[in-house]
Amino acid sequence: MITLTVVDRQGASTPISAAPGTTLMEAIRDHGFDQLLALCGGCCSCATCHVYVDGDDQSGLSEDENDLLDSSSHRTATSRLSCQVTLTEGHSGLTVRIAPEE
Ligand code: FES
Repeated sequence: MITLTVVDRQGASTPISAAPGTTLMEAIRDHGFDQLLALCGGCCSCATCHVYVDGDDQSGLSEDENDLLDSSSHRTATSRLSCQVTLTEGHSGLTVRIAPEE
């Protein structure tokens, strides 16, 4: 299992675990975080699954994800759309912060 820390919009940290192959969006939602709306269900068309991934090198960013993140006024150097991040053991130990609502 992969263990991550999720920080909500109030700054509360919660450890979660997920199986490899799960998307980050699914892992967060499966643990009951209702701040992550993920309205399009993972189709990379809504940006309501925006998170900040500490230490993310942006290497997995697709053109579609990049374009959608550009529409966010809260984009930072560690922004990702959590539905586009497929978890691997390499993600274990990372901290993920839920981005502010647009
Ligand atoms: S859930 Fe809509 S872009 Fe990720």
